[in-house]
Amino acid sequence: MSKVLVTGGLGYIGSHTAVELLARGHDVVIADNLANTRPEVLDGIAAIAGRRPTWGEVDLADRAATHRFLAAHEDLDGIIHFAAHKAVGESVQKPLAYYHNNLGSLVNLLEFVAQKPDCAFIFSSSCTVYGQADSLPVKEDAPVKPAESPYGNTKQIGEEIIRDAAKAHGFRAIALRYFNPVGAHPSAKIGELPLGVPQNLVPFITQSAAGLRGGLKVFGNDYPTRDGTCIRDYIHVVDVAKAHILAMDRLLAKKGDEAVEVFNLGTGTGSTVVEVIHAFEKATGVKLQWEFAERRPGDVIAAYADTQRAAEGLGWRAELPLERSMADAWRWQQSLPK
Ligand code: WQD
Repeated sequence: MSKVLVTGGLGYIGSHTAVELLARGHDVVIADNLANTRPEVLDGIAAIAGRRPTWGEVDLADRAATHRFLAAHEDLDGIIHFAAHKAVGESVQKPLAYYHNNLGSLVNLLEFVAQKPDCAFIFSSSCTVYGQADSLPVKEDAPVKPAESPYGNTKQIGEEIIRDAAKAHGFRAIALRYFNPVGAHPSAKIGELPLGVPQNLVPFITQSAAGLRGGLKVFGNDYPTRDGTCIRDYIHVVDVAKAHILAMDRLLAKKGDEAVEVFNLGTGTGSTVVEVIHAFEKATGVKLQWEFAERRPGDVIAAYADTQRAAEGLGWRAELPLERSMADAWRWQQSLPK
């Protein structure tokens, strides 16, 4: 089996991916500086997987520390790079912190891969690179639009850095463009841990339903959509995690002929904000308090994925429906201390 480094592996998508890697017998090393998570996540991963991955607390934006850490893991077969700051609003306030952290960590890791071109590299990218796509569902070859935020820009620039480095140093990589990951592991032992007031819809819904927040504000009901609220492609985080395993398998088997391949990770179905509310209420039996409010600056009207390339190239399709994501998100919320 392979040895895989999961950066940001104590984070939301990283922890779910670590669980899937361990379940398939891979050795997992986690690098995480706890900037946006808690060390107890490691216990949740171990409780599900039945074994504990190695964890190093390392700031990957620190070049010397990163190379010291990697020198202890020369035998890596792959790297899945999740570690990044990802709050859109915060990135507008602190662009330099985002460019330093998100791009500095990427370059430090790629310097290692450049020396070991057989090491598979998977990059956590985002549908934000598309902005408001001209046509939907959005395909991977849709034009990349000017980023709406420094966060989105770090994903766009990140993909360009990988392309240039892969061409120069002869390694292969895959960028996975996530739509809206939601939900939690069905065991309720790992899930999303938004620190502070949740900016994203589903963690706000579950905290509101748990009485930790006031009622949900729906940002805008005058969009040109079927019910006036924004449309997104909400995909269960376990489906997202499983796609990473298939992407790693593809690289390790040296399939495909492009140096860098890009795949959308979405369900292919769009849901409005009100439809998500109704799905949550139906899945959990919990009535939500909510009201319409002003539009949120920067929101695109609608985004949902064309999933054909991932189906063909990865042999992957999302399997878990929205209501299952809502039920799992709620079960996870109820497992958290009040
Ligand atoms: C979804 C919809 C809001 C909160 C984010 C990141 C993006 C990517 C996916 C990482 C929007 C509405 C939200 C609330 C609301 N993540 N909403 N009330 O903005 O699509 O994308 O997750 O790569 O980078 O930006 O997700 O959950 O914030 O919003 O009405 O309290 O829910 O307006 O229409 P978004 P979101």
